[in-house]
Order: sequence, then C-alpha cells, then structure tokens
Amino acid sequence: GTGRIAVVGSNMVDLVTYTSRMPAPGETLEAPSFEIGCGGKGANQAVAAALLGSSVAMVSKVGDDMFGDNTIGNFAAHGIDTRHVAKVPGMTSGVAPIFVEPSGENSILIVKGANATLSPADVDAAQDVLATADLILMQLEIPLETVRHTVRRAAEWGVRTILNPAPASPELQVGDLRDLSYLVPNETELALLSGQPTDTEEQITQAARSLIAQGIGTVIVTLGGRGARLITAENVTPIPAITVSPVDTTGAGDAFIGAFAHFLARSGQAEDALKQAARYAAYSVTRRGTQKSYATAAEFALFCTKTAASAD
Ligand code: RIB
Ligand code: NA
Repeated sequence: GTGRIAVVGSNMVDLVTYTSRMPAPGETLEAPSFEIGCGGKGANQAVAAALLGSSVAMVSKVGDDMFGDNTIGNFAAHGIDTRHVAKVPGMTSGVAPIFVEPSGENSILIVKGANATLSPADVDAAQDVLATADLILMQLEIPLETVRHTVRRAAEWGVRTILNPAPASPELQVGDLRDLSYLVPNETELALLSGQPTDTEEQITQAARSLIAQGIGTVIVTLGGRGARLITAENVTPIPAITVSPVDTTGAGDAFIGAFAHFLARSGQAEDALKQAARYAAYSVTRRGTQKSYATAAEFALFCTKTAASAD
C-alpha cells in the first residue's frame, strides 16, 4: 500500500553556482552558470518520498520572504501536506549557497533562518500527522531539542523513526537517541557520535554496534561510492553502490534517505528498501540540481530497467 511519511525538518533555497574551481581568499572569479532551486535536507527527503508515491506531511518553518511562499508552493505542487509548515514573521527563510566543481563535488554553506525556530511545541501541535504516520524522518538542520523531543514522542505513539544526523553535530549524544528505530549516518557522522574511528569496515561495524548496544535499533552507514552497510546486532549487510558518471552530487544523500523511507514504509524490508534507495540516489547524481534531479516514479522505473544488469 501507500506509506504515510512525516518529515520533521528543514527547508532551504539552494543557490547553486557551477564553477571551474573555488576562488582563493580575496580573489574574484567568474563562474559559468547559476541555478536556484528548492532544497534543505528535510524538504529534499520529503520530495523524494512524495515523487515515488508516498503520502507525505511536512512539519517545518519558512521565513516571511518570497522564498517562504515559493517553498510552500513547491511542497503543495508535490502533493505534500503543508498544514504544519508555518511562516515566521520577521525571519528569513533558510538558504544554502552551493558551489559545484566540474568533478560533481559540492561545497555548501547553510543559513538556517526560520528553520532554527522549529520547536518541540511545533511537534506537539502536529501530532495529528505525526502519530498517524508509518515513519517519521528527521535530520539536523533544526534545533537538536526538537529532534530529541520528536524521537521520544514517536516512541510513545509507536511510530518508527529515521534520523539522518546531517550536517554532523558534535552536540548530538547517543543518549538522545535511545528510542530511535533507524540511524543513517555517513562515516564522519558515525565517528563523531560513537567517539570511535571508522576508517575500516571492522571499525565501522564496531562503532555502529556500540550505538546499537545503547538503544538505537538499526544503523545504516552510507559510504558514498562504496555503497552502504545495514548493521544490526547480528548482521552486516552490504548494499552495493550503483556506478554512474557524476554530474552533480548535491542532495544525493537526501534522495537515498527519502527513497529508503518510501520503500521501507511500503515493504517493511530494510535491505530491499536500501537497494532501491541506492538506485534512486544514483539517478539524482546524473542530473543537475537538488530536488530538480530527483526521479518521478515513472523515471525511476525506466532507470531501473537500464541499470538492472550492472547492479545484480
Ligand atoms: O543535502 C543537501 C542539502 O543540504 C541542500 O539541498 C542544501 O539545502 C543543504 O541543506
Ligand atoms: Na543531482
């Protein structure tokens, strides 16, 4: 059936400059092109799940500027429930100046703006959509106390939770996450949260298991071009990467998590959901932009038939 997914998270406007290289301090450099698009980790993950066909509700804050209206319009255009997306008077919307180099690698600055005011009270006020969801998705572009509160309330409601602890925050403690169902860090975020090295496969497994021993249900470590690892107390399941020529990696991690949530809500099978998610993220890497590069369900189906041979 159709999964119901709620995202307690951020939205940003991505201001993307494509450059041949980064300027040195004091240097002015001309870059060939610029694009503006909707972004923010929370919004990106919500849009990916919605494009794939999930029923998605967003709990988020925008500023009272032109970006705020545009972001609400973008959610609505994707069929996302915006009843709990509020405009904050006197604040700017979140923005992300992004620089993409010819390798497809990106550098991102984020200015949280109104996202910094999403509070535990906002979560309580959205109980209607959160307590009835199959899954609640979070990231770290909103206040940490709001993430902590959501994890606790979701456990009371019996709703499974996914946290993508990005961008990496030294303030996040594993004690905050005892009730969390799925943690999806990259190697750096895993090292920071566990206080352990994550340079080898063995270290990654150990670091993830130290978090599981402290209450987190399942840890999924994303390893970029090396795919991902699904780690439980008993098993480590490698999820192979889908190899593509990168054009723009911006938002690929969010495509992965949004798609994972979509397929997990539908099937309940984490391994299968992750394999699909890896493919969905690979598609986004072959196209410019953040949300703009995400596949619809139909585009994804076509991409799957093309890449099936190389992946299995
Ligand atoms: O994960 C990619 C996102 O990070 C971008 O859309 C940007 O807005 C930043 O939040
Ligand atoms: Na992309």
